[in-house]
Amino acid sequence: MSRLVVVSNRVADPRKAAAGGLAVALGDALNKTGGLWFGWSGKTIEGGASGEGELQMDTAGNVTLATVDLSVQDHAGYYLGYSNGVLWPVFHYRLDLARFDAGFITAYRRVNQLFAKRLLPLLKPDDILWIHDYHLIPLGAELRAMGCTNRIGFFLHIPFPPPLIVAAIPQHEWLIRSLFAYDLVGLQSEADLRHFSSYVQVEAGALDLGSNRFRAFNRTVKAGAFPIGIDVDEFAALTHAKEGRDMHERMKEEYSRRKLLLGVERLDYSKGLPQRIRAFRALLRKYPENLKSATLIQIASPSREDMGAYTDLLKELESLCGATNGDFGELDWMPIRYMHRNVARKRLPGLYRAARVALVTPLRDGMNLVAKEFIAAQDPADPGVLVLSRFAGAAEQLEHALLVNPYDIDGMAETIQQALQMPLEERQARHQHLLASIRRYDVHWWRKTFLDTLSTISRD
Ligand code: ADP
Ligand code: G6P
Repeated sequence: MSRLVVVSNRVADPRKAAAGGLAVALGDALNKTGGLWFGWSGKTIEGGASGEGELQMDTAGNVTLATVDLSVQDHAGYYLGYSNGVLWPVFHYRLDLARFDAGFITAYRRVNQLFAKRLLPLLKPDDILWIHDYHLIPLGAELRAMGCTNRIGFFLHIPFPPPLIVAAIPQHEWLIRSLFAYDLVGLQSEADLRHFSSYVQVEAGALDLGSNRFRAFNRTVKAGAFPIGIDVDEFAALTHAKEGRDMHERMKEEYSRRKLLLGVERLDYSKGLPQRIRAFRALLRKYPENLKSATLIQIASPSREDMGAYTDLLKELESLCGATNGDFGELDWMPIRYMHRNVARKRLPGLYRAARVALVTPLRDGMNLVAKEFIAAQDPADPGVLVLSRFAGAAEQLEHALLVNPYDIDGMAETIQQALQMPLEERQARHQHLLASIRRYDVHWWRKTFLDTLSTISRD
């Protein structure tokens, strides 16, 4: 059997927890198959110092980890600059936040070339390569230019926006051309696939060969929607393990007289946090029966804190939470408990299970694994309700959640009220459908379907 080689910017020990959907899902996938995981070490060193770009090898169970450090300058241009200052905002429909003219592209190309140079000597002829996310779009093309003939698949964990939004990126033609170096391009949702298909035809003049195969630049690429999932059994097991149970009991005891609403995510502007807090304020104003009886726990883990858009959001969120507590709080009740930190992965399921309502309300999101984790952690006899943004990739699969438009603050407040009031039978019925869906399309389905498609594609 071919060895699996996974490449992503973020590499984590697959036996340990990490915040961020990509590292969590790849850890799950690699734990099953074994193989090699290549990427950035997470460390930066002063430019010109010895060790810059040098390969470090490690093992974690049946997975070999191969990582490189980046210089401070490359990290600034490639990771903070082009990946998170251009591609992340544009692919999340936020042209207003993109920094197009800062010259980050040079470092982005250089790091992709460096990755290709370090990875190539590690490859065996029949390895299957699976490259992940927006940091590494041109990596396949760099590898091909160095003579790599392996099967290579690419998966985009974030949304693929409509063609005219992609076209705002000055280097969009080069970026999309490099996607044709792959044999298979995986996207999260059918909507992303439609956007990709129309982009390559309209902007790149690709020929539609049928079955989502497109021909341009003398190459054929197949595209597909492969919605990423979670390991439902593993998450259920965590829910029933000691730390999960302890957390659940503690929360139940602490909030015995209150209904708990919960939000958990990285502190990112794609997640719709200010809108959510505003909707919660509107709920308290419109439905005063929730005063003293509903508490929102909002956990937002620190993310990309060297970037202005993220520090601005942090301040906005702190001020909104502070104002809500100031306006509505009582000596014995605070409406919002806001925490700017990570929660240990083993304790998360207990927290999810104690919540009556989960608020997963991004303005735009590739998939959103938190929504799926919340479903997996519920007690089927007395499940909580998922309030889910229609703009999360997960909304295509989870239509039995209460779907909301996060821009519509009053509408969202109404839906939260509906969730808080939902009778037991309806909660159970919705949860049953949701659980069936995340079970069917779990992380194993995702890995297997993508890799089966990649290894059986006919190549020209
Ligand atoms: P994204 O990939 O944009 O961060 P996802 O919802 O797809 O969003 O995945 C987030 C992953 O990170 C989930 O597995 C979630 O449990 C984890 N995570 C997010 N925020 C936290 C947090 N504050 N503490 C612990 N884990 C978190
Ligand atoms: C999203 C991206 C991932 C990224 C993760 C955490 O899930 O799709 O590629 O790893 O966020 O962000 P970070 O910048 O900390 O890697």
